[in-house]
This record gives sequence, structure tokens and C-alpha cells, in this order.
Amino acid sequence: MPDLAERLLAWYDRHARRLPWRVPPDNRAVGERADPYRVWLSEVMLQQTTVAAVKSYFAAFVARWPTVHDLAAAPEAEVMKAWAGLGYYSRARNMKAAADLVAARGGRFPATLAGLMDLPGVGGYTAAAIAAIAFDEPVAVVDGNVERVIARLFAIGTPVPAAKEAIRAHQSRLTPRERPGDYAQAMMDLGATICTPKRPACALCPLRDDCRAFADGDPDRYPVKAAKAERPTRRGHAFVAVRSDGAVLLRRRAPEGLLGGMTEVPGSDWPDKSGTGQGAPPLAGEWREAPAPVVHVFTHFRLELTVHRAEFSVAATAPSGHWWSPPEELPGEALPSVMKKAIEAAVPGATKKRR
Ligand code: ADE
Repeated sequence: MPDLAERLLAWYDRHARRLPWRVPPDNRAVGERADPYRVWLSEVMLQQTTVAAVKSYFAAFVARWPTVHDLAAAPEAEVMKAWAGLGYYSRARNMKAAADLVAARGGRFPATLAGLMDLPGVGGYTAAAIAAIAFDEPVAVVDGNVERVIARLFAIGTPVPAAKEAIRAHQSRLTPRERPGDYAQAMMDLGATICTPKRPACALCPLRDDCRAFADGDPDRYPVKAAKAERPTRRGHAFVAVRSDGAVLLRRRAPEGLLGGMTEVPGSDWPDKSGTGQGAPPLAGEWREAPAPVVHVFTHFRLELTVHRAEFSVAATAPSGHWWSPPEELPGEALPSVMKKAIEAAVPGATKKRR
């Protein structure tokens, strides 16, 4: 095993983060192996999301659906609701489709990188992570943390998108045949806790003596970033119709596209050209505009929603395709964060779970 991997694994044996989908090094040493279902679920949840944000969702999912068979048997709408707030909803739909496929093959996940790549929503990174962590396949796992660690170890001066191949080649060479999954997770933990984007804790780093960026005295310089295109702003309207018993009028978004299949308050479109989306209120009433727009940042644009609120009697009927969601059900609706913000701007506390 390369010395560097050995040093890193020795550090991991002492400092591995305890995470609910992991087998801690001590248990692994006595033969316990990670459950592919839990590893897969965690990796899908962790795409574009932090460990801190994922923990409670992961716990809720495995409590409710402990095996891939349970998840396959669940109605998609329930899975979408449990996912609400994690973002990137196509991931949840792909996850459900993958669970259905795996359950149909008797509950066995494909055990190789190539087989895993055939599952919906499982790309190169995720397949490599599952292959290494759940099946001990010695493949290179490269996420953002690993990129940073490698860019510093080898003082790679090329900006990151162009440097990806070089980074992958280093990671392939360094990945040991034994414990490749622990090695990958050790790299991730090192990146998350020691080799952090700002002010890395080099004094505590087990790879300090291997690190060119440390030797050169300026590890923060790496990874070198390419200049970013600025995020455009889009503008639209959201209409929060509130009944006197606190129910809020909702509808479902189209199945495809941004936030596909999620629940929303009625509103305008969000045009990508200049100008504000056009849309009429869902019901005639006395609509009042909230003093400031709600702002939400998506990957490719920033959205400013002007929120309008009006009150209705309990006799008001929902237009076709809409429903009144009573206050006790609102917190459990499949509302993406941007829609929660819009409702909160009109009815503070309405989307929060009551105790
Ligand atoms: N990020 C993605 N997968 C991870 C894992 N298995 N451990 C820690 N952080 C991660």
C-alpha cells in the first residue's frame, strides 16, 4: 500500500466521523460491512448537499423504509414528501426508480462500478463511492473534498474543471487495494475537517509531510478556481390564498423540469429574459403585496418572488387542480424551500412543524 494511504488510514482509524451510514473502522476490522442500501441512499442524498443537512433526512428515511424493498413499495408521493427540503427533486424521482429496479432484482444492488452506473440517478461519482464503500472495489472516488486535498497535495496550478483528469489520475494511483472505501471516506473527512477550503488546520494533518502546497507555504491557493459566470436574477409572483381557518391554496408543479412534481402556491412563470413573470391570481379577492420580495438562490439563477396574500371564507372553492391544505397538513406537504419561504412571508409559522 502506498505510504500516503497508510498514513491516512491510520488517521481515519482514530478520527473517522461517526455517520449513520458508515461502519466505524473498529467494527469493520471484525468483519462488519456497510449495507449497500444505506450507502446508496446516503450518497444520493449527499449529492449537492452537506452531511449536516442530510443526517436527519437519512434517519427519517431508514426508519420509515429500512430496506430497498420498503422504499420500492412506498408511493412516490410519500417519498417526495419525505424528500422535500433536500432540493434537486429529480434525484428523489430517480432514487425511487432505482429502488424499484433493485427490488425487482431481488433486492441486490449491482456490486460493480459499471453495474451501479446503470441505475437511474447514479453517475460516475456516486457509482464509484458505492463500489468502494459498499463493495471494496478499488476505484478512484473524487468529490469536492477530495479535489481540494489532491490539488493541495500536488500543488496543482491548473483551474479545477481543467485539472479534473489530473486529479483523478492521482486519486487512482493513491487508492489502495485494501480498504478503498475507508480510504475514500478518509479523504472526504480530511477535506471536511482538516483540509478545509479556508484556513486549513495543517498542524493536525497526517499528510502534511507529503503536501507540496504546505511546503510552498500557501495551501489556501489551491484548488485554483476558474472565474465564475454571474448568476442571473429572475422575477415572478406568488399568490398565497389563506382561508379563515388557516388553510392555504396549493397546486402541483408539472412533473418535468425545475422542482418537477413538487407542491407550490399558485404563481406566475419565472422568465429567463428581463421582465417579471405574468400570472393572474387563482381567485378574485383583495390581494395585498408583501413589503419585500422573497429571494431564493437556485444553481443557475437567483429568484425574486413578489408575494401576494388575500383572505377567503371557508366556503371559497379551490379552482380545478388546486386544493386547500389545512394548517395541520401544510408542514408535511412536498413544498420546496422557495415555496416555504413564500408561504412564511404571508403566514409566518405556517410551514413549521407544530410540537
Ligand atoms: N460525502 C459524500 N459521501 C460521503 C461519505 N461517505 N462520508 C462523508 N462525506 C461524504
